[in-house]
Amino acid sequence: MTTHLPLGDRRDAPFYGKDIISVRQFGLDDLEYVFGVAREMREIVTRIGTIDLLKGKILANIFYEPSTRTSSSFTAAMERLGGSVIPINEVRYSSVSKGESLPDTVRTLERYADVIVLRHPDVGASAVAAKYASKPIINAGDGVGEHPTQALLDLFTIIAELDQVNGLTVTMVGDLKYGRTVHSLSRLLSLFDIRLNLVSPPILAMPEEILTELATAGTPVTVADTLDGVIATTDVLYVTRVQKERFDQESAYESVKDAFVISPATLQKAKRRMIVMHPLPRVTEITMEVDDDPRAAYFRQMEYGMYVRMALLAMVLGKA
Ligand code: NCD
Repeated sequence: MTTHLPLGDRRDAPFYGKDIISVRQFGLDDLEYVFGVAREMREIVTRIGTIDLLKGKILANIFYEPSTRTSSSFTAAMERLGGSVIPINEVRYSSVSKGESLPDTVRTLERYADVIVLRHPDVGASAVAAKYASKPIINAGDGVGEHPTQALLDLFTIIAELDQVNGLTVTMVGDLKYGRTVHSLSRLLSLFDIRLNLVSPPILAMPEEILTELATAGTPVTVADTLDGVIATTDVLYVTRVQKERFDQESAYESVKDAFVISPATLQKAKRRMIVMHPLPRVTEITMEVDDDPRAAYFRQMEYGMYVRMALLAMVLGKA
């Protein structure tokens, strides 16, 4: 991974000047460090609200795909740390619509900003951007590839809600083929002693590449097309949206869009102490009646995301 260190900056700070492209960059020590900083950020926000840690720093938030949470939580994170944001949420109103290439767009924005958050429909786009940029690039989703900051906030949520990761049974359900959040999260979870259930319609199964990585890491994986056999032993039910925008044919989407719907009846079969997570947006895969169940953690999950993104911004800018 490229390291971008302006002259005179500290070389010992973890992730200082680095790009965040994949969860593969994080080992257990790194996770402990990120989550330690994120917990401090949570304290700061709870007690003070906003501080001046990144005063004078500017984030360019470039989104080539729709986003509500990722873009606004990065904005909130930057502003709570006293920094400011150049929002490019509608690339169709930017020079991208005139045919500007990704390398040129990032080389433009880095002239104005200190760090770039990028969401793009192509797998590997963040790595390409990082090759051209000399300021840190943070991958906010590269097509069906990865979504590393989401996986970090997902793991932070699991620890905050259930106190530990080792020993847990995690069940991922929905679109495991196109869902980048589960690609990143399953890789991150393979660093721990967990059991993983992968539940999806056969056409939306977890990619072979990731199954191979999980096998190499020694993670016990059960693949199923129904929740029946796994819901009772699940500690974390991670639900995903069927990624309509990735399908070539509408009919294929229609055939699987309601394959799994989590309702109060589903949770009746689950443990009393477990959590339901979702990266959101939700469409029909969790009914609104589930929202009032204390096990529904998806709204709390969003808030944890801001603390984790505050930690990551402070880290890559050398202030954590
Ligand atoms: C996810 C994404 O963009 O991959 N959303 C998010 O960042 N919270 C999940 C999705 O779009 O379904």
